[in-house]
Amino acid sequence: MAGRVAGKKAFITGGAQGLGAAAAKRLAEEGAKVALADINLEGVRRTAAAIEAAHGAGTAFAYLLDVTREDQWIATLEQANADMGGLSVLVNNAGISRGGDIEHLSLEDWKAVMSVNVDSVFLGTKHALKHLRQNQPGSIINISSIAGLIAAHNSPAYNASKAAVWLLSKGIALHCAKQGLDVRSNSIHPAFVDTPILDPLRQRFGKAEAEAKLARQVPLGRIGAPEDIANAVLYLASDESRFMTGAELKLDGGISAM
Ligand SMILES: NC(=O)c1ccc[n+]([C@@H]2O[C@H](COP(=O)([O-])OP(=O)(O)OC[C@H]3O[C@@H](n4cnc5c(N)ncnc54)[C@H](O)[C@@H]3O)[C@@H](O)[C@H]2O)c1
Repeated sequence: MAGRVAGKKAFITGGAQGLGAAAAKRLAEEGAKVALADINLEGVRRTAAAIEAAHGAGTAFAYLLDVTREDQWIATLEQANADMGGLSVLVNNAGISRGGDIEHLSLEDWKAVMSVNVDSVFLGTKHALKHLRQNQPGSIINISSIAGLIAAHNSPAYNASKAAVWLLSKGIALHCAKQGLDVRSNSIHPAFVDTPILDPLRQRFGKAEAEAKLARQVPLGRIGAPEDIANAVLYLASDESRFMTGAELKLDGGISAM
């Protein structure tokens, strides 16, 4: 099959909806096989079925995975590696947010955000490298956020977790390079993108007002579409980005230029 990532085998966390599902669809359109893993098994099955309907049987696989659980990571990566006939791309995308400023955020919420957003990248990369080194060139793509580079007054856990992902990506890049591996590691930093992660805000202000509020903070005057981020994942998964490692791609409509 032709395409910008033909022959690549990508493992994507949080693939049931939002950015993970959009990235999986875009990679499959360009010839990759995709393994979708999520705590929402019904959701990943639905996404995988849609991809198989468009691109044929054996192009997409669905797995139940809690990205905070090391035992599940090891087993799921083994299974996906067997099902796809290898593993060459890891997209650490699953993530959550919990509101509350530093005086009001609970320790429980702090730990939940750090675990889903940061432990996931540590565990996923630690155990995927065994497979990636067998399928070089490889690419690790970590979905951080513009909130990992720019702080807000009311999201200490989200800010800290996404900043951790940013620097962890660079450390992984240097580790792989030092090992002589052709496995790259980069982070992506979106601003507000139209996915279910924005639902709490939509419920609070109504859809139109919530999205207008966010759009007013963006120099381009709009929130992003999932496809905007999926195209960045595609670039980093492909060999077009073969000299890029330890870098960050900011897809923020200009927010960080201010
Ligand atoms: N949408 C945005 O505005 C935006 C902006 C910047 C960064 N991001 C980041 O992009 C990533 C994807 O966000 P999204 O907007 O698609 O969110 P989303 O809420 O629509 O999807 C997140 C997915 O992750 C899954 N997930 C949650 N906890 C999990 C766990 N423990 N194990 C496995 N899967 C789990 C959910 O079931 C869901 O399918 C996240 O890391 C998020 O922080 C999103």
